[in-house]
Amino acid sequence: MYHFLEHQIADSSNDDPALYEQFMKKIERGDKIEADDWMPEEYRTTLIKLISMHGISEIMGALPEKEWVPKAPSLERKLAIMAKVQDEMGHGQLLLRVTEDLMKPYARNRQHLMEDLLSGRLKFHNVFHMPTYTCRCGHCWLARGRSGNYFANKHA
Ligand SMILES: [Fe+2]
Repeated sequence: MYHFLEHQIADSSNDDPALYEQFMKKIERGDKIEADDWMPEEYRTTLIKLISMHGISEIMGALPEKEWVPKAPSLERKLAIMAKVQDEMGHGQLLLRVTEDLMKPYARNRQHLMEDLLSGRLKFHNVFHMPTYTCRCGHCWLARGRSGNYFANKHA
């Protein structure tokens, strides 16, 4: 559980019924919901949890991928894997910016999120600490090998 959300309403039982009805009509119409729109508390806190987890995962996923940059066999391949790492960091940045917008009504920001993450209060199932013997991101040369086969150089 997010420590910084501990004192927030975890359900929508105190939401204004009229606002709730308007919100549901927007959803049913397929309208976009912006971070500064009114939304049920449970909806907002769920979005904060899901989107921040996704953002953190993007950044954590980029960290082991960067280890493959010096191992790339050519400059062209180094540029390719560097671009992939940069993409993942960018995805994380965008997702954490959305999370920050969602946290504004609670007067919380990325610092609070990172404090919870680094202190261990925010439980994060990190699979990225496991060693990688091949890069299986699906984009780089390691995943495909010379033959184009995904597992061709599994033990390279
Ligand atoms: Fe990504």
